[in-house]
Amino acid sequence: MDTAHPSFPILVALFVLLLGVTSSQPYEEFLQCLEFHDSNITSIVYTRANSSFSSLLESSIRNPRFDTSATPKPLLIFTPRQISHIESAIRCSRAHRIQIRVRSGGHDYEGLSYSTISPSLTFLVLDLRNLRAIQVDVPSKTAWAQAGATLGELYYAIAAESRTLAFPAGICPTVGLGGQISGGGWGTLLRKYGLAADNVLDATVIDAKGRILNRASMGEDLFWAIRGGGGNTFGIVIAWKIKLVPVPATVTACTVTRTLEQNATEIVHRWQYVVDKLPNDVFFMVVLNSVANPVQANATTIQASFNSLYLGGIEGLIPMMDAKFPDLGLRRENCVEMSWAKSILYFAGFPLNSPLESLLDRTISATGSAKFKGKSDYVKEPIPISGFEGIWEKLKEVGVQTGGLILASYGGKMSEIPESSIPFPHRAGNIYQVEEVAFWVEDGVEAADGYLNWLRGLYEYMTPYVSKNPREAYANYRDLDIGRNGGGGEGDYRRARSWGSSYYKNNFDRLVRVKTAVDPANFFRNEQSIPPLSSWR
Ligand code: FDA
Repeated sequence: MDTAHPSFPILVALFVLLLGVTSSQPYEEFLQCLEFHDSNITSIVYTRANSSFSSLLESSIRNPRFDTSATPKPLLIFTPRQISHIESAIRCSRAHRIQIRVRSGGHDYEGLSYSTISPSLTFLVLDLRNLRAIQVDVPSKTAWAQAGATLGELYYAIAAESRTLAFPAGICPTVGLGGQISGGGWGTLLRKYGLAADNVLDATVIDAKGRILNRASMGEDLFWAIRGGGGNTFGIVIAWKIKLVPVPATVTACTVTRTLEQNATEIVHRWQYVVDKLPNDVFFMVVLNSVANPVQANATTIQASFNSLYLGGIEGLIPMMDAKFPDLGLRRENCVEMSWAKSILYFAGFPLNSPLESLLDRTISATGSAKFKGKSDYVKEPIPISGFEGIWEKLKEVGVQTGGLILASYGGKMSEIPESSIPFPHRAGNIYQVEEVAFWVEDGVEAADGYLNWLRGLYEYMTPYVSKNPREAYANYRDLDIGRNGGGGEGDYRRARSWGSSYYKNNFDRLVRVKTAVDPANFFRNEQSIPPLSSWR
């Protein structure tokens, strides 16, 4: 090598040193730092001056509530193509005090993978869209999937190899593997096989020091924490090695809708006594919302939509449901047989004849242009009829299809997995999980406040009927109402304990210990990341 002429990166570094790093533009310093590590790297950096910046930022914003002119924007978007790019980004972010927000699928309920509540925070979005390779190995029933892949891409890759293998993760195809598995990940297979995070065998992670780790080198504590302890906290997950699970070649998906005039109150009430005790091959979800009354003009009613998936053919399902849940009155015409991969499209609301390739569409949005907020609860004792009647009153307060509850059946495998197996603790004793949600299309703070207040009122109303001490919540339905760190993610153990116990129950302290060991300086952080406890350093 010719050492007489310093290379371009070294010249840049010397230049930066001579300047004493006094540039007023933090991203320029950051870019110089990146160039020092890899002279080609700037082609994957999009600054605000770049014409693609806004479209790139918006392309994975899944909650338009955080896509307004008032939403704090990143300094730049970084789209790594290889692991070394992420190593460089971590080194340069540390050196120039730019916070990293990792984005996989962009579904964070509070927009924390691409925004912040703190207008003065200097941060970049590290968007993993280019790291989404998937390798399925049918003989070992395993797959390696990069964290930037979506659930739909994973399901499609599995279906391309086998009709009888699946992965027990979420329903919405555009959700990213990075955030989903970092927070748990439930879907139609949870009563049979548990959560996505229960079925992780290994992972590739980059920690705050820029070290690339696998399960053996990271150790069991960190491997435990990344499977449900929340994203953007312990490091950046590059890829997951997952266990694929067997499913029959034919499964049956059914939908039955009932309004109040069709006995919905009694059927939903009865559903609670049945649903966690059904065979593990059955998953049941009920969506409750206000709809136009089909038999009375200009009036509304409440509709309960019972969506189920049975791991088997229709012939086995109907007699079993007739015996165990006759109140529903399930009929053959309510059901369709299909492959498991197609059932994802069914549950995600695609038309029945949609091609499997729809799973690959990263641009579709489950909520369209609607802004939303979600909250979550766990039900351990059946809610009485009078409790549901009060819920109907709440649902009638908002417009048709703008607010609702989604009840997802637990029991089965979920009750067999110990609470401390992974950070996700909501196991035995739960009949079902509740998501309370509000959707709206109107712009502006006033409209948003109206829907947010309504949702908070519904949540308040639910208090006597749901888990207590702590009131449990699902970490992947992030809700900053239940508590948060400082705007820049500065954590305080005592403050974090309140929301941390809701998400993680007794696993919270172990998460704090792992965080303290692997990232004592709290490099990876956001408004709801686990804080380190410096005294345990
Ligand atoms: P996003 O990219 O926003 O990341 C979420 C969090 O994880 C952020 O803090 C982010 O920084 C961090 N993160 C992302 N990638 C990371 C990585 N590689 N390493 C470390 N941290 C990383 N849930 C469910 O269990 N079942 C379901 O069926 C659904 N369905 C659903 C539908 C819709 C329309 C929405 C909006 C959400 C869901 N969810 C869900 C919730 C979903 O699981 C949750 O929002 C996930 O965190 C989203 O993961 P993404 O990668 O898409 O989000």
